[in-house]
Amino acid sequence: MQHHDRIRAVEWSDEGLKLLDQRLLPRLEQWVLLKDALGVAQAIRDMVVRGAQAIGVTAAYGAVLAARDRYAESPEHWRNAIEEDFRILAESRPTAINLFWALERMKARLAGIEGDPVVALLDEAKRIHAEDVAANYRMGELGAELIEGPCAVLNHCNTGSLATGGFGTALGVIRAAYGAGRINHVFADETRPWLPGARLTAWELVEDNIPVTLIAEGAAATLMRQGRVKWVIVGSDRIAANGDVANKIGTYSLAVAARHHGVKFMVVAPTSTVDMTIATGADIPIEERAEEEVLTLAGTRIAPDAAHAWNPSFDVTPAELIDAIVTEKGVVEAPTLEKMKAMMAG
Ligand code: MRU
Repeated sequence: MQHHDRIRAVEWSDEGLKLLDQRLLPRLEQWVLLKDALGVAQAIRDMVVRGAQAIGVTAAYGAVLAARDRYAESPEHWRNAIEEDFRILAESRPTAINLFWALERMKARLAGIEGDPVVALLDEAKRIHAEDVAANYRMGELGAELIEGPCAVLNHCNTGSLATGGFGTALGVIRAAYGAGRINHVFADETRPWLPGARLTAWELVEDNIPVTLIAEGAAATLMRQGRVKWVIVGSDRIAANGDVANKIGTYSLAVAARHHGVKFMVVAPTSTVDMTIATGADIPIEERAEEEVLTLAGTRIAPDAAHAWNPSFDVTPAELIDAIVTEKGVVEAPTLEKMKAMMAG
């Protein structure tokens, strides 16, 4: 299959790591250049880059910058010093397992290295990046095959090239299915409070000339009742061993509404997002972000000064509400622990 997506949000250069600043899109396409691991951790925390798989790729390149600095400082003691950088990178955000998965891979690559570690670590980071794009292309094909179209679908959050190494998880399936004539229209949840659906998903789809209609997520159940979408398609930040799925807050409400209305629910995520050490979604750490994200809009306070807000960034959708989990290793329908184990082994 031919792929024409042009958007990339994470790019390595000899000067350092370049990130397309997702806080400024779609108004401005501005790149940030990061030269050390501390800056990378800060950029992840501040949402310059976001989306589980994009965060993993970014952290891997962050480890390369750490190695470059620590080896230059001390060719004898860099191994001890780099531990602190790994710790700081790992503390940048808690929910997406791809962050920890990528750092573990970078650490493992360090094990056999003698002398300057930079070439080997850069090679590993580029592999992680390329493997993610390849997984997305594969998931695009597998997910598209599940959709009997042409039909319209609903996406939540941003799950595209910006949120991954490139092409996208759920948005990758949407791109592939649109190309194959199985999807003819995309409804995008704006996704309160950070609005990645409005700012990023709508932008990616407009760039690709795929018809998109933005909705407030409060409109999703009515959209389903009117029979206007056949599938809800979302990504994930961490999938537990039993198939419970953590994803952007609001995903669970969509899954409940979808089941009620007979709309199918698909989760698209590479195996780097599956955490087989966690039995169920109840054990997935859920990030809570600053209340200002809810109390303000584009920097302006919208709530009374004395009001407070609760801002969980993710929720857990139980496996029983999921029709299909699509990974690069295959499709798990109606996920259970046994089926997840078989898929991971396959
Ligand atoms: O807080 P974010 O923007 O990093 O959350 C992103 C999501 O929840 C995505 O849906 C998820 O990472 C899976 S798709 C890459």
